[in-house]
Amino acid sequence: MGLKSDEIVIRGGKPLIGRIEVRGAKNLATKAMVASLLGDTPSILKDVPDISDVNVVRGLLSIHGVRITDPARGELILDPSNVETAHFAEIDAHAGSSRIPILFCGPLLHRLGEAFIPDLGGCRIGDRPIDFHMDALRAFGAIVDKSYNGIHLTAPNGLKGANIELPYPSVGATEQVLLTAVLAEGVTELRNAAIEPEIMDLIAILQKMGAIVNVEPNRVIFIEGVKSLNGYTHRAINDRNEAASWAAAALATKGDIFVEGAKQQDLMTFLNVFRKVGGEFDVHEDGIRFYHPGGELKPVVIETDVHPGFMTDWQQPLVVALTQAHGTSIVHETVYENRFQFTEALNDMGAKIVVHKDGLKDVQRRVARRDFEQAAVITGPTPLHGADIRVPDLRGGFSHLIAALTAEGESKITNVGIIARGYEHFVAKLRKLGADFDFAG
Ligand code: EPU
Repeated sequence: MGLKSDEIVIRGGKPLIGRIEVRGAKNLATKAMVASLLGDTPSILKDVPDISDVNVVRGLLSIHGVRITDPARGELILDPSNVETAHFAEIDAHAGSSRIPILFCGPLLHRLGEAFIPDLGGCRIGDRPIDFHMDALRAFGAIVDKSYNGIHLTAPNGLKGANIELPYPSVGATEQVLLTAVLAEGVTELRNAAIEPEIMDLIAILQKMGAIVNVEPNRVIFIEGVKSLNGYTHRAINDRNEAASWAAAALATKGDIFVEGAKQQDLMTFLNVFRKVGGEFDVHEDGIRFYHPGGELKPVVIETDVHPGFMTDWQQPLVVALTQAHGTSIVHETVYENRFQFTEALNDMGAKIVVHKDGLKDVQRRVARRDFEQAAVITGPTPLHGADIRVPDLRGGFSHLIAALTAEGESKITNVGIIARGYEHFVAKLRKLGADFDFAG
C-alpha cells in the first residue's frame, strides 16, 4: 500500500486498457471490522482491501484490545475477547483522517460502559457533522459529554431500544443505530434509514452474529435487541465505488477496462448513466467490461442521491468523462455541500466547468433541493492538457488521476497519498492498464 512518494508525474493521452480487480468495499469492510467488537467470539472477514482506512480501523481496534491476525491475503481474524478502554491520546493518534471512530460508540458502550471519540477526520467535502449520531445515541440512553479534545460517552443505565427518525438517510447514522440497537434492551424502530448495499451487507453480518434485524418498506428498520452476539465469517461486498471510478477512467481515456468483481446489481443506476453518456459495458459472471465504443460522448443531467439514486461518490470521476462529452452536462450535488473543489484543477487543465455554489434553482429536479446544494455545469468537449495539481480528497484525487491520464502532456499531482485511503493498489493497477507515470523524488 505504501507509495514511493506523495507526488506522481503522469504523461497522459493514452487509453487505459486491461483487466483489474476490485475487492471488498472500503465502506463495508471498515464497518464490519467495528462490528467484530460486538461478538463474544472471533470474527473472520474476507476480501479486506489493502487500503489505509482499513489500517486506521485496525489500529483503533488494536488499542481497544482486539487481537487481529491475517492468516491469508485479504483475510482478517478479529478476536474481541479482551476489549479494553484505550487512552484518549492513543485514540487520537490512531484516528488519523477517518470518520470511522464514531462507529465505535455503541459497541464500546455495550462492552465497556464508556466510549471516547476524538475530533473526526474524513474527506473535507463539507461540514460532515455528527449530530444524527449523537442524537441517536442519546435516544438509546447514552450521556454525551463534549470536551475540548473530543466526546466522552457513558451509559450508566445501559442502552435501551429507541424510536429514531433520521432527518436524512445518513449512511453513518444508520450504521450507528444498527451497531447500537442489536445489543440494546428491547426493540428499536429506525425510520428514514439509509439502505445502501453496504448497509445491507452489514445487516447480513449482524444477522450471522445472532442479531434480529428486519428491513421493512419505506426506509424503516426494526431491530430486536438480543443479549449476546457471536463472531461472524463473512466475505465483504465488492467496492462498487471503486468499480465506478475505473469505469469513468475507461470512458474518459477512450479505454477499455475489465473490472473483475464489479457487480451489476450494485451499479444499476451508474450503468444507466454510463450508457446515456455513450459508454458501453458487458456484464460477465466475474465482472464488468467498461469501454468507450468510439464516437461522441453525450452530455447528461444528474442529481446525486442516497441509494438507489446516483451515488455522490460516483460524480467526481464521471465529471472528468463529461468534460469530453459534446454539449452541456449538469451535476447537482445533493449529498455534500462541498464536493466540487476538484473541478478547479480540471479547469486549470482546460475544462470548462462552472460551479454554482447555491445550486441551480430553476432546473426541474427529481431530488428535492437541499439548502446547501451545489451544481456544476460542464461544457464539452474540451481537450485537457497537463498541469500541476494537488489532490483535495479521495474521490477528487482519483478524478485528478483520470484527468491527467486523459490530458495531452505531463501533469504533476501532489498529495496522492490520500488516494490510497480508498483505492487498493491503484499504482499497480495503473501500470497494468498501461498508464505512463513515475513517482517524483
Ligand atoms: N449528516 C449530518 N449529520 C450527521 C451525519 C450526516 O448532517 O450526523 C449529513 C452529512 O453532512 C451529509 C449527509 O448527511 O450531508 C450524508 O452523510 P452520511 O452520513 O450519509 O455520510 P457518511 O456516513 O459520513 C458515507 C461514506 C461516504 C459516502 C457517504 C454517502 C463511509 C466511511 N463514508 O459517509 O464515502 O459518500 O456515506 O454515501 O462509509 C468516500 O468513500 O469517498 C466517502 C466520502
